[in-house]
Amino acid sequence: MAILTANNIVVNFERRGNGFFAKKEKFQALKGVSVAIEPGQTLGLVGESGSGKSTLARAIMRLQAIDAGTVFYGNDDVSAYSARMPLALRRRVQMVFQNPDASLNPRQTVAAILSEPLEIHFPQMDKTARRERVAELLEMVELPVSMAQRFPHEFSGGQRQRIAIARALATQAQVVICDEPVSALDVSVQAQIIKLLQSLQKHLGLAYLFVGHDLAVVKELADCVAVMCRGEIVETGTPDDVFYRPQHPYTQHLLAAVPRI
Ligand SMILES: Nc1ncnc2c1ncn2[C@@H]1O[C@H](COP(=O)(O)OP(=O)(O)O)[C@@H](O)[C@H]1O
Ligand SMILES: [Mg+2]
Repeated sequence: MAILTANNIVVNFERRGNGFFAKKEKFQALKGVSVAIEPGQTLGLVGESGSGKSTLARAIMRLQAIDAGTVFYGNDDVSAYSARMPLALRRRVQMVFQNPDASLNPRQTVAAILSEPLEIHFPQMDKTARRERVAELLEMVELPVSMAQRFPHEFSGGQRQRIAIARALATQAQVVICDEPVSALDVSVQAQIIKLLQSLQKHLGLAYLFVGHDLAVVKELADCVAVMCRGEIVETGTPDDVFYRPQHPYTQHLLAAVPRI
């Protein structure tokens, strides 16, 4: 059974029409989107900028209110919760954002950044156990434990994304939502982060929703691919089907822009 399911998600935003005095109009960012992720598998989500990928990611995380539809973490319906979801549910799904600079507090040391979710989710953990767990998390993302007392600005972009990944792992989440996690990184570093995500998946049995604009990366990572266009999923299938035998004109159009697949 799926470890994460979104059924017919609708999200409406208000948007001002053309012209300064124009009335606000309702704009449907998600028009009834459904996705399911199996344990240990990766669902790749592709689509042009503005198609609604991040809105879906945020809706799944319950960071974005939905106007219709349901979100299930395993058997548990979490649709009714906003950000105040019970901890026991919240820790099962975590997120890695595109820009680690925006998602890491510059005034906290790495140790403090990684300790925070431990203090919230496992309050019974004592200081020693917490320090050990922080060291373990740093090892998991292949950062030297000796760097725990440093601040985010002392790291490279790729290292900062490793810290963000470690934080997502702190609660022992089984699902990680990765919203363009390598898009802000140098091309040379992107491959290392992708490799890390693959190795973590293998060792921890993680499931990913991997949002990406680089179709070659998504093809490499995903077990299943969904193509989003203007708030709708227009095509799903295996990477081979979607990338070599695209059925929908929008997918063909997306692929035409990428000579290397
Ligand atoms: N908080 C918001 N308020 C109004 N419009 C929004 C908001 N967030 C996203 N949008 C709009 O919804 C659409 C989908 O955005 P997004 O999910 O960020 O797309 P993607 O991640 O695929 O680039 C875009 O047109 C965007 O401008
Ligand atoms: Mg986005």
